Amino acid sequence: NLPSKVRLVEVGPRDGLQNEKQPISVADKIQLVNDLNAAGLSTIEVGSFVSPKWVPQMAGSAEVFTGIERKPGVVYQALTPNLKGFEAALAAGADEVAVFAAASEAFSQKNINCSISESLERFRDLMAAAQAANIPVRGYVSCVLGCPYDGEVAPAQVLSVARELFAMGCYEVSVGDTIGVGTAGKTRALFNLLAREIPREKLGGHFHDTYGQALANIYASLQEGIEIFDSSVAGLGGCPYAKGATGNVATEDVVYLLNGLGIQHGIDLSRLAAAGQRICDVLGRANGSRVARALLSQ
Ligand code: HMG
Ligand code: MG
Repeated sequence: NLPSKVRLVEVGPRDGLQNEKQPISVADKIQLVNDLNAAGLSTIEVGSFVSPKWVPQMAGSAEVFTGIERKPGVVYQALTPNLKGFEAALAAGADEVAVFAAASEAFSQKNINCSISESLERFRDLMAAAQAANIPVRGYVSCVLGCPYDGEVAPAQVLSVARELFAMGCYEVSVGDTIGVGTAGKTRALFNLLAREIPREKLGGHFHDTYGQALANIYASLQEGIEIFDSSVAGLGGCPYAKGATGNVATEDVVYLLNGLGIQHGIDLSRLAAAGQRICDVLGRANGSRVARALLSQ
């Protein structure tokens, strides 16, 4: 029994653009968010408030937040690693924030310069501030199906980090295959384990498509009753701290899969494909969505 409805979290403006080396203007970023809005996305990760020395591309996130057209009912999210980032996100008008921890020690060090337990500790003051400001906090766990430095990651380790994130107040946790090495069997086994303790409707899947397995992993997740997926228009992206990792699964490809399964999502595929092509033209890069390429060549 597959879910009848899915919520897609569009991470293109953040996870997608964060890795682009070339400068992208604030106006182009705003246009992307507005286009995604028009295509019907209900949750959009607009940017991140991290150290500009670590991820220079996200330095203009506050201006992007101030410049976008806001549609009622749409949630505009920001990725925040610490209290400083949270305060900046709040000032910029983010509706929600997301914190991120890793399931592998080595990735935690490379990505946020501290151990897993230190990172969880750092989130505590952020969580308290978010609670006081009435801002919901989403949690991410990265490297859930493999780490570029440590290799195999034990599902029990993912559960332990996810459990901590819920315990400190995250309303939902998205588990990320940061380097896209996972396969369908491992994905099912992971969600099966997580769901022993965490309600399935509070778990999201965040798949990068490095090995071309993301759609298969999403289908496997749907079979496990998962109803929330992160994706990136035109398959934009990569991770600055995971060498060789490609973008997230393309939103257009996920929408096409869901259409075929009769699962509701609220997104207009042709507008979405146009939004993806527009940002690809700005970046001068090939469209990473197979579905968009097929639709736009007709
Ligand atoms: P650090 O150097 O250990 O931190 O970095 P620090 O507290 O010592 O601060 C160093 C400098 O950064 C200071 O400035 C701080 O003010 C500044 P200085 O005195 O040197 O001028 N700083 C900040 N500036 C702006 N905003 C902030 C902020 N915090 C400190 N929030 C830190 C620690 C976490 C800040 C750093 O490692 C960092 O920013 N990392 C971000 C890494 C990142 O964004 N990675 C990509 C996103 S995660 C991802 O893509 C995975 C995901 O998609 C899921 C998946 O795919 O699995 C979510
Ligand atoms: Mg990611």
